[in-house]
Amino acid sequence: MYPAQNVTKVLLVLMLCMARSLVTARSLAAYLSINEFCVHVVNGFSNLNETLNAHCRSKGVDFGLRYIPVQGEFNWSFHIKYFLDKTKFSCHMWWSGGEKYLDVFWVDDRFLSLYCAGNNCYWMSRDDGIYLFDYRYKEYIFQYNWDAWHGEHLEKKMS
Ligand SMILES: *[C@@H]1O[C@H](CO)[C@@H](O)[C@H](O)[C@H]1NC(C)=O
Ligand SMILES: *[C@@H]1O[C@H](CO)[C@@H](O)[C@H](O)[C@H]1NC(C)=O
Repeated sequence: MYPAQNVTKVLLVLMLCMARSLVTARSLAAYLSINEFCVHVVNGFSNLNETLNAHCRSKGVDFGLRYIPVQGEFNWSFHIKYFLDKTKFSCHMWWSGGEKYLDVFWVDDRFLSLYCAGNNCYWMSRDDGIYLFDYRYKEYIFQYNWDAWHGEHLEKKMS
């Protein structure tokens, strides 16, 4: 290999490293400066009579049962401290077509930048599953199928 090629390779690697640390510095700044988030759980079922039931909580907060009408939503706002914040919210959602236990908020670079841009994270129930708004494509993207409803009224323990 010619030395010139080596130099080019080294330069490329250096530029990649610099680009990466720039991205990291930018998201770090975002975490430090803008730290209030809002999670939205939206009922997007096609049948206007279909209620979405949601029980959302974190380790310290329990929002209780929420009955969300079609085209309505349940939302809540909270602050996270820094990028090492351990805040996590989970929900049990169900309707006549099934149920799902899922995490709806967690502190992770990828999750926050793709799905909580503008500090709003939008989840939506649809007939075929649960969707999450993706700010890259500016549309809701499928995430989970509904699990078969087990008819259990006891809440499972959430981590
Ligand atoms: C919604 O419920 C009403 C009354 O129960 C019923 O008349 C109507 O057909 C239902 N609509 C749909 C779209 O299922
Ligand atoms: C939160 O949900 C309520 C309905 O429950 C709605 O009126 C309000 O506009 C929502 N807030 C935001 C910020 O979207």
